[in-house]
Amino acid sequence: MSELISNADLERIRALLYKETGIYFEAKKDYFLKSRLQQRMQAQCCATFQNYYKELLFTDRETELAFLIEEVTVNETYLFRDFPQLRGFAEDVLPSYLQAKRTKGNYSLNVWSAACSTGEEPYTLAIILREMIDDYDRWNTNILATDIDRRVLRQARIGLYDERAIKETPIPYKQKYFRRTPDGWQVKPDIQEPVAFEQLNLMDRPGMRRKRVFDFIFCRNVLIYFSDDSRKQVLSSLYDALVPGGYVFLGHSESVGRITASFALERIGDFLCYKKPGAVLPRPGSPS
Ligand SMILES: C[S@@+](CC[C@H](N)C(=O)[O-])C[C@H]1O[C@@H](n2cnc3c(N)ncnc32)[C@H](O)[C@@H]1O
Repeated sequence: MSELISNADLERIRALLYKETGIYFEAKKDYFLKSRLQQRMQAQCCATFQNYYKELLFTDRETELAFLIEEVTVNETYLFRDFPQLRGFAEDVLPSYLQAKRTKGNYSLNVWSAACSTGEEPYTLAIILREMIDDYDRWNTNILATDIDRRVLRQARIGLYDERAIKETPIPYKQKYFRRTPDGWQVKPDIQEPVAFEQLNLMDRPGMRRKRVFDFIFCRNVLIYFSDDSRKQVLSSLYDALVPGGYVFLGHSESVGRITASFALERIGDFLCYKKPGAVLPRPGSPS
C-alpha cells in the first residue's frame, strides 16, 4: 500500500502534524510516518490517501486527527526516570525553595508535568514531595499532569504499572506507595490524590495561557521532537505559567540556552534547570 502514499502526500501530513503539535518529522522518519499513516488509513477503511485526507480535514477532523497524533507520538516513560536529575530537584532545589515560601507564609505548591504520558512522571513527583516535605500536611499540594494524547491519559488515571515501568523505583518506595496486584503495581490512593490529569496540547496558545502560578514545571523528553520555533513558543508559555522564582526542568538532551534568554540557568550536578527570575511570592492576599 505504501505506493499509494506519495512524497507530496507525506509532505501534507508532515505539515499538518507540525502545525497541530509542534512535532517536526524529519525525512529520516519517513518510513515510520508512512507506516503509521497506513495503519490509520486501514482503520478508517480508506483505500486512497485522498479519501483519508478528506476524512482527516473535513469529515471527522477532531477524532481522526487525535487518532493520528496518538499513532505518531512517542510515549516512552517510566517511574523515577533520570534519577540524578530528580535527586537534584529533591535535595538541592526543593528544600531552599520551600523554606523561602514558608518564610512568606505561602504554603501552596503547584507542580506541572507538562507531557506526562502514562503518568509515571507525575506519580514520581507526588512520591518525592511526600518523602521530602516534613510538614507535608500543612501544604496545599497540587500536581497537574497533561498530555496531548487522550489514550495515555486514560492509562495514567488508572496508575497501574508493569515491572519495566517500576524498575528504577527505590525498593522502599515500591513497598510504601504501590500495591501489588495480579496485573502489576498500582499506585496507592494517597499518591494519586494530589494528581489531576487533563488533555492539553503544548502548542495550544489559549489553553496554555490559562495555566498559571506553577512553582515547578517538568517538561521532559518531549521538546526533542519539536522544531526550534515550536520549542520557543512552548518555553515562552511555560515561562508565563511559572511564579517568579519558579523552575522548569527539561530532559537531559534538551538544552534551550540558545532559544530563550528569559530564564536564569542554574547548574545542579550535571544538569541544567531554568529559573524564572524573581523572589518567591508571599501567601496570596497577604501584604508583600
Ligand atoms: C517520551 S514521552 C515523555 C514522558 C515523560 N515526560 C518522561 O520524560 O518520561 C513524550 C510525551 O509527549 C507527548 N506530546 C507530544 N507532543 C505533545 C504536544 N504537542 N502537547 C502535549 N504533549 C505532547 C506525547 O503524547 C508523549 O506522551
